[in-house]
Amino acid sequence: MCGIVGYVGHRKACSVLLDGLKRLEYRGYDSAGLAVRDGEGIKVIKEVGKVSDLERILVGLDLEGRQGIGHTRWATHGGVSAVNAHPHVDGMGRFVLAHNGIVENYHELKEALLADGISFSSETDTEVIVQLLSKLYDGDILRALTALQARLEGSYALAIIDRDDFNHIYCLRNGPPLVLGLGEGESFCASDIPAILPYTRRVIYMDDGEIAELSPQGIALWDKSGSSLQKKTFFVDWDVSMAEKGGYPHFMLKEIHEQGGVCRSTLKDRLIGGRVDLSNEISLDEKVVSRFEGVHLVACGTSYYAALVAERVFERWTDLDLKVDIASEYRYRQGKIGPDTLVIFVSQSGETADTIAAERKAREMGAYCLAVTNVRGSTLARDCDDVLLLKAGPEIGVAATKTFMGQITALYLLAIYIGRLRGTLHVEQEMELIDELIQLPYKIETVLDREPVVEELASRFADSNNFLFLGRGISYPIAMEGALKLKEISYVHAEAYAAGEMKHGPIALLEPKVPVVVIAPRDSLYEKTLSNIQEAKARHAPIIAVGFDDDERLAQEANYVLSVPYTIEEFSPFVTVVPLQLFAYHMAKKRGCEIDTPRNLAKSVTVE
Ligand code: G6P
Repeated sequence: MCGIVGYVGHRKACSVLLDGLKRLEYRGYDSAGLAVRDGEGIKVIKEVGKVSDLERILVGLDLEGRQGIGHTRWATHGGVSAVNAHPHVDGMGRFVLAHNGIVENYHELKEALLADGISFSSETDTEVIVQLLSKLYDGDILRALTALQARLEGSYALAIIDRDDFNHIYCLRNGPPLVLGLGEGESFCASDIPAILPYTRRVIYMDDGEIAELSPQGIALWDKSGSSLQKKTFFVDWDVSMAEKGGYPHFMLKEIHEQGGVCRSTLKDRLIGGRVDLSNEISLDEKVVSRFEGVHLVACGTSYYAALVAERVFERWTDLDLKVDIASEYRYRQGKIGPDTLVIFVSQSGETADTIAAERKAREMGAYCLAVTNVRGSTLARDCDDVLLLKAGPEIGVAATKTFMGQITALYLLAIYIGRLRGTLHVEQEMELIDELIQLPYKIETVLDREPVVEELASRFADSNNFLFLGRGISYPIAMEGALKLKEISYVHAEAYAAGEMKHGPIALLEPKVPVVVIAPRDSLYEKTLSNIQEAKARHAPIIAVGFDDDERLAQEANYVLSVPYTIEEFSPFVTVVPLQLFAYHMAKKRGCEIDTPRNLAKSVTVE
């Protein structure tokens, strides 16, 4: 959803910016550009394609400047072209600006600027911002930026440099994230932490309505009314190697292989004396929890599937009414939300626009809001009453894998904790669940060791263009996640259905060229799932089953079986999702797809 990076200090800005853009490429990658101080002027270079395409142009140029901004784009207004790529410059060639977001009143603003005789070279909403800034500027940049803020409607994170000011970068935020980095004699801004992680771990998170002024000497901030702000500096506990490939060909594969560790670190320090204890992190206690009647779980994409998995355990371990919804729907629905509702927002980034809007609605209606996220200082984390962090480290691959694992781990802990606080989960049950929880990282690692079997299977099916994924109960959201992974990165059409629903429609699609992936752990719905396998087999569809080790019946029924270690019923998603992630990865690889940066997608969707 576009990535911004900015630098002012003692290093060559060009290399800091390029490095940052590569680390932000997961946010958008149809074109990229940067603007760097070049003597008295500013040099702007933009190119269609990936950051590597931009880099090829930069090789021949010797840009020495120590101040600059960069951008990697996911097009909204205006097609993919070098002209529409950012940064954009005003007609006077003075202000240079990179933008993430959408200016909703850009048409009206543009009309007014055109009427003033200002002409435009691009089709973007962003050029409107820079032209307007230039018009509003009367010698006082802060006054101009405050006036700009008042005129813009919509969402924006902005990084701005001024041709006549060698020392500063200005940033504005309303919606999309912007993090500011403090270094020794240097300052940074970026859409996400990995971009600046090689240089500093001291960061300030900008909030909506704020203006920041970055210089080599430090960072100053103001609120909307122009009052100066003192903000908290956070220390990021991720290190730079976490945001690098570490010898793997793709981030996605590395992240899949980190999942045992993610589960382990998300459990760490939260299992105390044989019980789940979250009291150091969240303020939910017996009193607060006793007032709840319902839990809503709200999310987008893969996080939504994690929420659907969690729904199945919340309904087992607590007595609360459950509702799970997609954030873009929830934000516009009429359902009852109030002080007796706990709303859990699941988002790896904590920056998804729909999830944040849903949270604001729930908060206004008096609900207790809890974020389950991977990013401590994210907007969602800061807006909610409580935050439960995944300990997944940065996830760079656009297709979420290890954050899904972190999410289900954190949500299971939460369900157990709430069950205990409400008295619906007894000590012996809790201990049994914890015994299983602590074995999960090893079981996940066992599945990962079986990657060659999955790779071989992907070779067999690399030319298949339609898949059906089936599951029942807790395996149904895993079928959905498996199908999503496959379509996201290998562009293969994959549809997921509740296995029992297949006969109401998708069975019509079945024939020998449509493989059916069935998630079939030996659980209470196993026999029913086997019947669905029979139905698919009768239509000559090849069956790929994911099931527990030593399941001979499944081996007889299915054409191919991906075996995973046994878990008790509620925990099978931790192991069954892994071969599906690996299958999607190897299918994409065999089909020659761009695995970490799939077409048209962005990792963090910060516009509606
Ligand atoms: C995008 C990403 C998905 C992600 C979804 C929700 O669509 O490509 O991988 O699941 O956003 O993101 P969130 O950060 O809220 O979990």
